[in-house]
Amino acid sequence: MTFRYANVLSLLVAVLASTHFLSSNRQYVKHFLNEFKVISLSPESIITRLDGHHHHHGKKASKVDICDDFPHDSLPPDTNTTTTFCVDRNGCCNFTTVQSAIDAVATLNAKRTLIWINNGIYYEKVIIPKTKPNITFQGQGYTSTAIVWNDTANSSHGTFYSASVQVFSTNFVAKNISFMNVAPIPKPGDVGAQAVAIRVGGDQASFWGCGFFGAQDTLHDDRGRHYFKDCYIQGSIDFIFGNAKSLYEDCQLISMAPPLAVGQKSINGVVTAHGRASADEDSGFAFVRCAIGGTGRIWLGRAWRPFSRVVFAYTFMSDIVAPEGWNDFNDPSRDQSIFYGEYMCMGGGANTSTRVPYAQKLNDTQASLFLNASFINADQWLQSQL
Ligand SMILES: *[C@@H]1O[C@H](CO)[C@@H](O)[C@H](O)[C@H]1NC(C)=O
Ligand SMILES: *[C@@H]1O[C@H](CO)[C@@H](O)[C@H](O)[C@H]1NC(C)=O
Ligand SMILES: *[C@@H]1O[C@H](CO)[C@@H](O)[C@H](O)[C@H]1NC(C)=O
Ligand SMILES: *[C@@H]1O[C@H](CO)[C@@H](O)[C@H](O)[C@H]1NC(C)=O
Ligand SMILES: *[C@@H]1O[C@H](CO)[C@@H](O)[C@H](O)[C@H]1NC(C)=O
Ligand SMILES: *[C@@H]1O[C@H](CO)[C@@H](O)[C@H](O)[C@H]1NC(C)=O
Ligand SMILES: *[C@@H]1O[C@H](CO)[C@@H](O)[C@H](O)[C@H]1NC(C)=O
Ligand SMILES: *[C@@H]1O[C@H](CO)[C@@H](O)[C@H](O)[C@H]1NC(C)=O
Ligand SMILES: *[C@@H]1O[C@H](CO)[C@@H](O)[C@H](O)[C@H]1NC(C)=O
Repeated sequence: MTFRYANVLSLLVAVLASTHFLSSNRQYVKHFLNEFKVISLSPESIITRLDGHHHHHGKKASKVDICDDFPHDSLPPDTNTTTTFCVDRNGCCNFTTVQSAIDAVATLNAKRTLIWINNGIYYEKVIIPKTKPNITFQGQGYTSTAIVWNDTANSSHGTFYSASVQVFSTNFVAKNISFMNVAPIPKPGDVGAQAVAIRVGGDQASFWGCGFFGAQDTLHDDRGRHYFKDCYIQGSIDFIFGNAKSLYEDCQLISMAPPLAVGQKSINGVVTAHGRASADEDSGFAFVRCAIGGTGRIWLGRAWRPFSRVVFAYTFMSDIVAPEGWNDFNDPSRDQSIFYGEYMCMGGGANTSTRVPYAQKLNDTQASLFLNASFINADQWLQSQL
């Protein structure tokens, strides 16, 4: 999202200016992937691998050598309801890029197309147009399969177009894969450095065991009804933003805002910026059994638009969550229309006794609307995506 409010911008700039916040996100991602012992198939590593074969066998390695380990048996067969396309960056199956597989999907296909994506980092910007519904991305694990790009608001005509992956179609499903934006982490005072990892702009989308990596504006949960289960979501400012109606269950929400000195009261991160503009809009973010951790000192949400609606239930909040909890975008006229609720949360950051006055401790009746998949009318669509 763009900063439309100079007062908030200057607040955050002042906050960020007090820290040294210069490491590159690309390094962070490499560190993250190494930590999980991911075999990163960078061009260099493929060359090294080829060289290795060269030394061992005393002959030039061929594509066949790289593909020896290819797990052909893992590929689900075509059925009368699903077609499988395979992507492998070493060229061991149908496609070497995710976008080339999407391009090959028939327009307005009523069947589901399962795009099976082998281990590796796919450096590409991916777009799924509105005309290609029913696509599933099946990765091999969110720490081993990732789609990565590095556009920013500046490099792409605005935050909304900066996403590494943009989904405009309905019925999109992703399983065990990561979406990353590795543009440089915004430095204090930077303008136009927002960098989205994925924009989810179609109705009826679900994400299972996925990773979302970025800094400012990581996950653009744009519009439609969406479901996130067992996902890992990392960012700094407004790292889940948009105007969708979404249920997040059992997800980790990790702030990578810089650590602050003990006792420092400034805020340098925000989990959500929900963009509901009027009472007529049926949108909101519900987080159930999630965990909030990481670094910095953060708010749970701030009111990007006046009717912003966010609920946290049964969620663990570490003490990086500031006692006031929420922010009205420095516009008190929004306090009447904001809906920010908490229900049965726990942890050092979940103490509601000094929350902003418009934050609500929900009772059972109020909370029940947000606690299960009925919130997103899942009975109409989610089961078939499991
Ligand atoms: C799809 O295949 C299953 C089993 O192979 C069969 O029971 C079903 O009738 C088929 N559906 C259609 C629409 O052909
Ligand atoms: C993908 O590869 C499989 C196995 O070689 C083949 O049967 C299938 O037709 C290919 N699909 C496409 C879309 O190229
Ligand atoms: C494919 O998408 C269309 C339009 O969104 C939907 O009506 C249909 O049920 C979908 N089919 C499957 C198999 O998901
Ligand atoms: C993205 O990375 C490429 C390659 O490192 C670089 O040339 C380009 O400037 C980067 N783009 C942005 C917006 O940082
Ligand atoms: C995702 O990965 C986990 C852990 O490897 C595995 O247990 C699970 O079956 C996978 N799920 C899907 C839908 O790929
Ligand atoms: C974005 O573009 C503006 C205008 O050209 C420039 O002033 C600013 O430094 C750029 N931001 C980044 C992060 O490169
Ligand atoms: C919550 O915070 C208040 C005010 O700081 C404090 O008095 C109270 O003991 C805290 N409650 C818990 C359960 O920590
Ligand atoms: C829950 O809160 C709502 C709104 O304040 C109120 O109308 C309702 O009576 C409460 N229900 C219970 C069971 O306390
Ligand atoms: C979800 O919760 C509502 C309210 O408690 C309840 O009426 C509904 O049956 C539940 N739906 C599911 C799918 O569990």
